[in-house]
Amino acid sequence: MGIALKLAVPVALVAFGAAAHVPALAAATPVAQPFRAALNQSPTYGVGRSPKPDELKAIDIEVTPDGKGLRHGSGTAAAGKDVYTRRCETCHGPTGKEGPQDVLAGGQGSLTTARPQKTVGSYWPYATTLWDYINRAMPFDHPSTLTVDEVYAATAYVLFLNGIVGERDVLDETTLPQIKMPNRNGFVSDPRPDVGAPAKKKHPSS
Ligand code: HEC
Repeated sequence: MGIALKLAVPVALVAFGAAAHVPALAAATPVAQPFRAALNQSPTYGVGRSPKPDELKAIDIEVTPDGKGLRHGSGTAAAGKDVYTRRCETCHGPTGKEGPQDVLAGGQGSLTTARPQKTVGSYWPYATTLWDYINRAMPFDHPSTLTVDEVYAATAYVLFLNGIVGERDVLDETTLPQIKMPNRNGFVSDPRPDVGAPAKKKHPSS
């Protein structure tokens, strides 16, 4: 899914950032060849360096649908109301339905109608992905500034606005992956051989 791609992008950016610097340094400074080789990571292109463990850790924030990667912490919708009001409401509305930005709640049962409304409650297949998304991308203007507990609380509140969890249900790395989202079974696997399980049926034109 898109999650793997999202992780791949920052990794590529780090490699790219390093690549952009080393040749410039190498061109400007007459350093000895062995020293330059030690700096370099790629034997083919002679650019970049291996990321340090703490650099990798900082961008290794992916949470997979089964909950792998979730941080240790917890939150409830009751606690999330405050986080949501302070950090989310201006863009998503008091009940997640008003906008002006993406509608987060409602729309359940609308996907098969003439006017499908894709929200967290109507469309998203995994609650764990919601945690990952809020953690990495929200608030839109200050991404990744919430604490781990605030991410759990905001996740719980968005799920509460969709009637998926109760106000006092505690979400943590054990309970969050157990939530069954309403549209969990609404997706089919991608038949393209390079990205998903092999297609069961042949394409009609083949
Ligand atoms: C400054 C405005 C702003 C704030 C504040 C903000 N968001 Fe968003 N949010 C957006 C925008 C814009 C998008 C669409 C981003 C995109 O499509 O790339 C979005 C998308 C989302 C989505 C995905 C919706 C979907 O179905 O595609 C979720 C979930 C979400 N925000 C949750 C939150 C939460 C929780 C907070 C508070 C912690 C928050 N947002 C704060 C602007 C904001």
